[in-house]
Formats: sequence, structure tokens, C-alpha cells
Amino acid sequence: MSLFNVYPLNPIAITKAAGSRVWDDKGQEYLDMYGGHAVISIGHTQPHWVKRIEDQLHAIAFYSNSVVMPIQEELATALNDISGKKDFQLFLCNSGAEANENALKLASFHTGRKKIVAFKKAFHGRTSLAVAATDNPNIVAPVNETDNVLFLPFNDITALQKCFADQGTSIAAVIIEGIQGVAGIYEADDAFLQAIRKCCDDSGAVYIADSVQCGYGRSGQFFAHDHAGVNADIYSMAKGMGNGFPIGGILIAPHIQAKFGMLGTTFGGNPLACAAALAVIEVMQQDHLIKAAEEKGNYLINALKNTEGVKAVRGRGLMIGFEMEAGLEDLPKVLLNDLKIFTGEAKPNVIRLLPSLAISMEDINLFLIGLNNAIQVL
Ligand SMILES: Cc1ncc(COP(=O)(O)O)c(C=O)c1O
Repeated sequence: MSLFNVYPLNPIAITKAAGSRVWDDKGQEYLDMYGGHAVISIGHTQPHWVKRIEDQLHAIAFYSNSVVMPIQEELATALNDISGKKDFQLFLCNSGAEANENALKLASFHTGRKKIVAFKKAFHGRTSLAVAATDNPNIVAPVNETDNVLFLPFNDITALQKCFADQGTSIAAVIIEGIQGVAGIYEADDAFLQAIRKCCDDSGAVYIADSVQCGYGRSGQFFAHDHAGVNADIYSMAKGMGNGFPIGGILIAPHIQAKFGMLGTTFGGNPLACAAALAVIEVMQQDHLIKAAEEKGNYLINALKNTEGVKAVRGRGLMIGFEMEAGLEDLPKVLLNDLKIFTGEAKPNVIRLLPSLAISMEDINLFLIGLNNAIQVL
């Protein structure tokens, strides 16, 4: 049987990993500035994370959500603590799309309304409602098409206010990434997030902070949306949450009430996933990785701004994008094939850096040397 051919693949088989390094099946070492697409938060095969999962595996890997699971409650407490969202409630699922799907559905249940406000270039996942709120017609199947999603220009307060003035009473939710990732690393302005908060407060709509990529400490705050100084009503989380173990979730404000059966999942919140997620939070707290993301990110961003051939450096913490001067289009290929450095891309011209929050300064400097060399080669 062949694999369903949906991914354009690099012809490299990664078989081993540690920290910010990965190795292929021939023993070639690579520096990972991509973090498997922002997933590796505390470092590949981090020892405490491996042990926490191993120990849990010997105790119990899975039981369904029909019984009390103390480890879910432990995770909820740890998340309250690290996020500062003290009275929020936790619903666990398995991926980013599923987190957003549940967030949107919950907003609709809560308000009794149907309209969703999303933004140009947004990416929220591939399940039916998440993809309908994603601004990429190529991945929206005919069955996912709906008039319920309104796409507004990003960071345009006037357009937002006009939309709410016209249709506020039918809007269930506004969904927004704190830093747009797939689009090519574009930060939401603080004033824009504050305006969303106000529009939602005035109209009774739900503010959903898609933190799947920009959350979990990557921006230097637990949620990138926190930089704006206002709370969202629902935060969706996934990528960095399990450091590679599949887990997603939503944090839900206290005024949104649960009803039996309104959300549910078989695998979401299983003990093994919770153990992985707890290990991530424990390591983030012990090693002060959120602060590290801020400091190392500032260093990297400043260095990139002073690198010849690099332009339009964007982002916060260790969620960074930059554009390449004309003639450097092959930079990602040269970085990977010649300098053995993984980076991410956003078409047509953006390199994305999403390394582990535990990356060392030595590795950051190695990357900068590699980048300069690659630019010289071209
Ligand atoms: C902002 C954002 N939301 C949602 C998703 C979907 O997450 P998943 O691929 O885990 O379904 C992604 C994935 O890239 C994302 O970047």
C-alpha cells in the first residue's frame, strides 16, 4: 500500500533527535530551527518528558472520559498556574483543528448565533468549521463552504467596528491568531485585539484566541494574545502543548457554561497525553523557558535585522519570520542541503523560525553563522 500523497516531502528520513538536533538514517546531524512546525517546545526527547510518558505508560495509557481522571485535573491546575487564566475551564482534545472546531462550536452553543468573524490569511485548521474560517480556498472542500464566516482585513479596526455595527447581534465569535503563522508571521496589533475584546463585550460575541502555533510561551508570554493586556473568552492550544505527543485543548472563561454532552471526544485527555503535557509545563517552569523565549527571540530578531540579504523581520520571541532579498529564493534549500539546518517556509518568500524554546545560544549563533554562509553562497 502506498501513502496518500498529500505532503511535498524533503527526501530525508529523520530517525533520531535530542534537544535542537535531529539525525537522519545515515547519521547526518541537522540543526532544527523549525521545531517540527512549532511543535517541539521543550526540546526533542527531553529526558523528563520521556520519563513522565514512560512511567505513565506502565501505569495506564488510556481510559475513556467516562471515569474521573485525576491527571486531567492536575493538568488543569498546572495550566491555570502557568497561563494565569485562573478561573478558566479546560476541555482536552487531540489537535489544533479540533481545538478550534470545539471553540467555534462552543461559541455558537453559548450565544445561539451562527456568524463567525475571521481574518484575511488566517489559518485555523482543516476540520469543517476550522477550515471554513481559514482563508485558503484550496483547502476548503465544497461541503465546507458556508456563508457563516465573514473574512475581514487583519488589523483593521474600522472594518471590524463596521462589521459589528452592521451584524453584531448575529456574530457568535471572532477567531484570531495572536501572530499569524502559516500566513508568514504577522502580529495582531495590541489595539486590534483590544478592539476585538470591546466589540465582543458590547455585542455578546465570544473572543477566540487561536494560540495553537503562537501560544505555549513561544512569543515570550504564555499566550501571544496576552501582549495586548486583555483576556480572550476561549484560548485554543495544541502544537507546543505535548512537545510532539498529540494533544490539544481549549481554555474556557468562567462565564461560559458546560452542559453534559455539548462537547466530547474518545481520545482527548487520555492519561498518556496528559502526562506529556504535564512534563512540558514542569520543564517550562523549572527552566524558565517563557523568559528564555523572549530573551533569545530578541537576540535572534536583532541579529536578523542586521544580516545582509534579510529584510522585513517579523514576530515575537521564538516565532520569527523574515523575507529574503531578490536572488535568495533558494536560501531554505541551501540551508537544509548544504548547511544541514531545518527552517520553515511561508510562500512565496518568508523563512519561518520556530525552534524549541530550550534552544541554546550556541545553536542560535550556529544558525546565524550558517545563514550568513548560505547568503554568501548565493
Ligand atoms: C494557528 C493554527 N491553528 C490551527 C492549526 C491546526 O492545527 P493541527 O494541524 O494540529 O490541526 C495550525 C496548524 O498549523 C495553526 O498554525
